[in-house]
Amino acid sequence: MSASDAPLHIGMTLTPTWLSGEAWRRPDSGVEGLMGQDYYIDIARRAEAAKLDFVFRPDTLAVNMGLLGRGAGMAGLDPTLLLCAIAHATSRIGLLTTVSTTFYPPYILARMLMSLHWLSGGRAGWNIVTALDGQRNFSLEDMPSPEDRYTRAAEVTEIVTRLWDSFPGDAWQPDRETGQFVRAELVRPIHFKGTYYSVEGPLGVPNMGAATGACRIPLVQAGASEAGRDFASRVADATFASTPDMEAAIELRRDLRRRARAHGRPEDAVRLMPGLSLYLAATEAEARELYRATHAGADEARKLANIREMTGLDLSGWPKDRRIRASDLPPAPQKVRSRTHAALLRRAIERQEPTLAELLNAPEVMGSAHWQVIGTPGQAMDAIRTWRAAGALDGFILFPGGSVDAMHLCLDTLAPALSDAGLLRREYAGSTFASHFERPLPV
Ligand SMILES: Cc1cc2nc3c(=O)[nH]c(=O)nc-3n(C[C@H](O)[C@H](O)[C@H](O)COP(=O)(O)O)c2cc1C
Repeated sequence: MSASDAPLHIGMTLTPTWLSGEAWRRPDSGVEGLMGQDYYIDIARRAEAAKLDFVFRPDTLAVNMGLLGRGAGMAGLDPTLLLCAIAHATSRIGLLTTVSTTFYPPYILARMLMSLHWLSGGRAGWNIVTALDGQRNFSLEDMPSPEDRYTRAAEVTEIVTRLWDSFPGDAWQPDRETGQFVRAELVRPIHFKGTYYSVEGPLGVPNMGAATGACRIPLVQAGASEAGRDFASRVADATFASTPDMEAAIELRRDLRRRARAHGRPEDAVRLMPGLSLYLAATEAEARELYRATHAGADEARKLANIREMTGLDLSGWPKDRRIRASDLPPAPQKVRSRTHAALLRRAIERQEPTLAELLNAPEVMGSAHWQVIGTPGQAMDAIRTWRAAGALDGFILFPGGSVDAMHLCLDTLAPALSDAGLLRREYAGSTFASHFERPLPV
């Protein structure tokens, strides 16, 4: 099987995007369960029954006060602890947690992930983020610059992987006969001294796997600026991306593959996995209504403030039918929360020159700038096939929207259809997360 015929890598978010906007207010939303494990275990089990690669929990270390009130303002359970509970209730699906290199000390981070790895039988994965905010919860007034955050990310990632290797798994061999618990001669401190951290090691948890092979912890990265791409192509197994249109995805995938080669890695070592926001229903008209109802209460002032923050353009007072031209854009602001998202919004304005009404509805403003399909499962299949044939992805992460039913349609109808079409495995070949990322993928 050639790489282009291999099944896709598919993940499922555990952030309840299907409850966003007004959707949580539906009688059957189950919103009362969000602070317990059962709600998420049900979804993880559905995702595992569908043979997805992983479930995934994004994270933030700050409450968004502007979104708190009519929404949860990003408040929720710690991702790694939540995935530990899910580990207990599943057996094959990968568990991708998000941990920020900007705020977590590497020793704590390494121990936490390796503990999840043991507790899940080898299913931990690390989504490496440099974070967008939260600095004031960590004794900082301003976020460090993106460059500084990526330099730190590189250092933290190096320390974490060295700590994992500092206590090889085969050193942990309790032998009742000899009385030797650990082969201490195999356990080595790392004596790391860098720009940000000095870490002696070794890690206090043995390594369940190794740096390579089917039992390692896969590394995923999010953030697509120059520095983000360079970092991902050096260390990551996959990039989680915001690519609202196919050309953006093709360009990013091509660039990541080129950079991976330049770093001496195989070009398919880093897989591009865009977020896929899906509003699914039995008919396209119903799906459009689902989208409209979900976003009916969206706060326009907040959207205008986001546009201003990302582009420097103040559109308050503009008529809804007035087009925004590329020439209306002021020079890009120096400081933005995410250069990736700011660049995507500028790109959308430059290419589409939308009316204000169109812009306020665009994925770059409404949400996380993800690829979006509003329609039937069949239409989603067509879109996935088109992107696949164009070389725009190696997989994707599902972000269902609108309602619990729409989320179920995604896992219980679309996913089996993807298997039938040969785009998703029918059975797991292994029981570790890394085994789901093996190349070429078994069908
Ligand atoms: C698709 C995507 C998902 C992200 N998810 C998270 C997240 O869950 N938590 C977080 O703290 N930061 C998240 N980030 C922020 C990035 O880690 C990064 O800090 C930010 O995008 C700035 O990097 P950039 O200059 O490369 O865009 C995400 C970024 C992107 C593009």
